[in-house]
Amino acid sequence: MRSVSITQEDLTGKIAEHIKNMPSLPTSVSKVLNLCGNSQTSPADLNYVISLDPVLVGRVLKLLNSAYYGLDQRVTNLVRAIIMLGINTIKNLALSSAIMGILPKDKRYQGLDMEGFWRHSLCVGTATKLLAKERGVDPKQLEEYFTAGLLHDIGKIPLNAVLSGDYMLAVASADRERIPLYQAESKTLGTSHCIVGAAIVNAWHLPGPVGETIVYHHDLARYRGAHHDILNCVAVANHFASDRELGFSGDRYPVKPNKRIWQSLEIGDEVFEKIEKTVNEEIEKAKVFLTI
Ligand SMILES: [Fe+2]
Ligand SMILES: [Fe+2]
Repeated sequence: MRSVSITQEDLTGKIAEHIKNMPSLPTSVSKVLNLCGNSQTSPADLNYVISLDPVLVGRVLKLLNSAYYGLDQRVTNLVRAIIMLGINTIKNLALSSAIMGILPKDKRYQGLDMEGFWRHSLCVGTATKLLAKERGVDPKQLEEYFTAGLLHDIGKIPLNAVLSGDYMLAVASADRERIPLYQAESKTLGTSHCIVGAAIVNAWHLPGPVGETIVYHHDLARYRGAHHDILNCVAVANHFASDRELGFSGDRYPVKPNKRIWQSLEIGDEVFEKIEKTVNEEIEKAKVFLTI
């Protein structure tokens, strides 16, 4: 077996450098997220922020006028579009769009295919939110569930970008040894996407459930924070996405979350049959929105 060509010291330095240069969320997206988190926000407030960002305007109108919504007449008025789509949809899509923006465009990366990674992320975000909805979680909290799911594996981006060929060795070793990818990363590279994710959480100042999910989603037993429900939902949604091969993020042999976690969520298998269709629809919707 070929071993990695990079020293541990070089790896740590290069990853820190990559994270420093990673674009953080664009200002317009941060503002949209802030506004969406405020219950007093009106469509006119959102219109003001979105209209300053031509790419976002284009995406919002493109989504609403896509076949997905089946409207008889084209809508070109942004305020009307915001009202019709709803604030939550705008928020989800602004975030997905920001994540797309930070994904490397370079096709030469060998470790993970970014299209598959993006589908996996979107699937876990959507499934986490749907699970929460099924269980009667307060609607005001659902976006937090979505974001935590969407971003859980973000630590893989610097690993894939900095290491490329060496990251492929980690992915291949997970396959060969039939072990979860985070374990193969530790064995092969001496780090993991959760450790790298923690560095992104620091750099982006992402406290709370989203940051905690990025760091602890493979280590729930060590988690001591207050957001067990979100982390548990992400862990189960992550297993669902890998198991049904909705997207691909390098994990063919993920650990099944333990019984205690499934019991705490009080859901049966039939819930997954129900959400699979919606997850696929949501991915299609986001695809239309993101390919402008
Ligand atoms: Fe992960
Ligand atoms: Fe994942």
